[in-house]
Amino acid sequence: MRLICAKNYQDMSRKAANLISAQVILCPESVLGLATGSTPIGIYRQLISWYEKGDVDFSKAVSINLDEYCGLSPRDPQSYSCFMHQNFFDHINIDPRRVYLPDGMQTNSTLECARYDRVIADNGGIDLQLLGIGRNAHIGFNEPDDHFSKGTHQVALTESTIQANTRFFQSADEVPKLAYSVGMQAIMQARKILLVACGEDKAEALQRSFFGPVTPQIPASILQLHQDVTVIADTAALSLCPVTR
Ligand code: PGA
Repeated sequence: MRLICAKNYQDMSRKAANLISAQVILCPESVLGLATGSTPIGIYRQLISWYEKGDVDFSKAVSINLDEYCGLSPRDPQSYSCFMHQNFFDHINIDPRRVYLPDGMQTNSTLECARYDRVIADNGGIDLQLLGIGRNAHIGFNEPDDHFSKGTHQVALTESTIQANTRFFQSADEVPKLAYSVGMQAIMQARKILLVACGEDKAEALQRSFFGPVTPQIPASILQLHQDVTVIADTAALSLCPVTR
């Protein structure tokens, strides 16, 4: 694992955007595994700015998002589809036919999970997977559990995730309780992983994920077994990691 210490959120965003744009410049057909949440917003802003300057071209890239809430249509302003369009896709030249998210309106979870795993397989897997990390060390919506989920699956969000996501809704009651999430197989088979974290409320999750046992109770800990992981985090998020002591 490469651990890159960023000075602050802006520095983290620029460094991460540099790696993503390098990926797309080197391989324009790259399959990007993209993530939602507050942390990647600065990365998307930076990539949009470089796109506007003509430095990076997304016309041949593929995007496969990690997760989506169940019960929200792609037009719902709280859906991850809407988030991705507002924060990224609508501002770059990615081909809408190459943009994939789980379908939160599909009530048959078996069908939807199988369909999404096929999307990932048909695109040849993910070249670069961008990940945030939850306070409970979830990646995507792979929540702490007694096992690692292999394929795309429907998850019941944990109380801590619902509380953390309440900030995007009027109240905790409005936060969907179920989501579709890509499983650990697609994440671990990604050729490169880029995990970003900012702020001291992520410090414990980073320390437990990368400097403790590999266990499904700490979902991101599985990344210790991946051969090409880059973590870019600010000093606050790295404050409990041995390297910065
Ligand atoms: P955040 O979420 O970037 O909004 O903190 C990260 C995550 O839950 O994966």
